[in-house]
Amino acid sequence: MDKIIAHIDQNKKRYQDELFALLRIPSVSADPKHKDDIRKAAEWTRAKLAAMGCSARLQETPGHPIVYGEWLKAPGKPTVLFYGHYDVQPPDPLNLWTTSPFEPTVRDGNVFARGSADDKGQFLANVLGVEAFFQSDGQPPVNVKFLIEGEEEVTSHNLEKFVTDNTELLKCDEIIVSDTAQFGPGYPAICYGLRGICYMEVFLRGPKMDLHSGEYGGAVANPANVLGRLIGRLHDPATGKVAIPGFYDDVVELSAAEKAEFGKLPFDEAQYRSRLDVAETPGEKGYSILERVSTRPTCDVNGITTGYHGVGGKTVIPAEASAKISMRLVPNMDPKKIRAAFESYIRSLCPPAVQVRFENHGMARPVVVPTDSPALAKARAALEKGFGAKSVLIRSGGSIPVVETFKDKLGVAALLVGYGLPDDNLHSPNEKFSLDDFHRAIKTAAYLVAELGK
Ligand code: BES
Ligand code: MN
Ligand code: MN
Repeated sequence: MDKIIAHIDQNKKRYQDELFALLRIPSVSADPKHKDDIRKAAEWTRAKLAAMGCSARLQETPGHPIVYGEWLKAPGKPTVLFYGHYDVQPPDPLNLWTTSPFEPTVRDGNVFARGSADDKGQFLANVLGVEAFFQSDGQPPVNVKFLIEGEEEVTSHNLEKFVTDNTELLKCDEIIVSDTAQFGPGYPAICYGLRGICYMEVFLRGPKMDLHSGEYGGAVANPANVLGRLIGRLHDPATGKVAIPGFYDDVVELSAAEKAEFGKLPFDEAQYRSRLDVAETPGEKGYSILERVSTRPTCDVNGITTGYHGVGGKTVIPAEASAKISMRLVPNMDPKKIRAAFESYIRSLCPPAVQVRFENHGMARPVVVPTDSPALAKARAALEKGFGAKSVLIRSGGSIPVVETFKDKLGVAALLVGYGLPDDNLHSPNEKFSLDDFHRAIKTAAYLVAELGK
């Protein structure tokens, strides 16, 4: 192992150059104008896997290509599948970035770029950890498969189908996913649960056309007003709970042991508020912030479109109003059931004066994995060596749709070994990734491969 770690230390500069090259490709999956960039990032990843000794190809889908690579020349040894995503979120709003999102820039030991932590820096660390074996030992002590997709940020629809249809190809003993975060600096973490999501958009149509609010105001239902009332009824202000009937029916409460474990994690609520510059952190009564953001379901407006957005005032009753509303789900909520409950609640609140219509923008099932597996113990040991600190067990509030599919279709509970930090500004301006953590992550990946090969 010493030789491998020395090799990783010697290649620090090259690793950063490679990461920066990947970060320069604006592979924004949500925006059709980046279609060619998406392909470039996929091709970059494929070429990287091929250059280190894997057979690698692009799997076309109706959307963006999946990169699949494998090296299976360790007979009798376990097979480890690494999952990650090369697509990134849109960088907007651009004016809030200190430096350009696709020109990686180092400040204070962090690289700032869209996709640095989510997920290019993280999946590349795993690739480089495996590469170190090829380059210094000849070969890794396990068989490896890589599945790097380009549609995670747009709900992994095509990947789910690919996994479902290719269970033989993807057959493996362990799955490593590095797309979550550490608990904090000095607290490397294994994540054992992710929230699911049900993302809806509701459209309200009032009068047939926009109307002068002086001539018609008072006579017709304004869909923007109605939308505001609907949104106001999504939560019960007394309890902070989501008010959709049946919403909590399938929610599994935290066990006493889990609550105790979460309670032990050093979480400074006041510091959290000050980082976000908010006076209060209201939410569901009876749960800490940490519990609320990782183990409780939510309902949030993500965007509203209606009326006049231009400069100055315009006296108008808009004909339409719409809101994008996403619900984060926890075990054992079923996104389809939640969608139906959401739609019927909204319909029940809507006056006949407006017509309502819905669109779905994606669903993912929540997932938890066992914390007592031998592989998880190995992952904790690897993290401890790579990061020089004891790891903790956490659950995360974000979603990685394919993790539940892996469990369901491949029968493998993924190990979520996250290398990022909670303040990496994922999906926000000035996304960053610590270069020291990038280096530690590469070592962790190498330790993990060594552990799994034992
Ligand atoms: N890597 C994140 C998920 C994540 C973030 C997990 C932080 C744990 C901590 C992932 O790329 C992501 O953003 N997922 C989307 C999925 C959605 C589009 C279906 C999410 O959670 O919003
Ligand atoms: Mn991600
Ligand atoms: Mn993301």
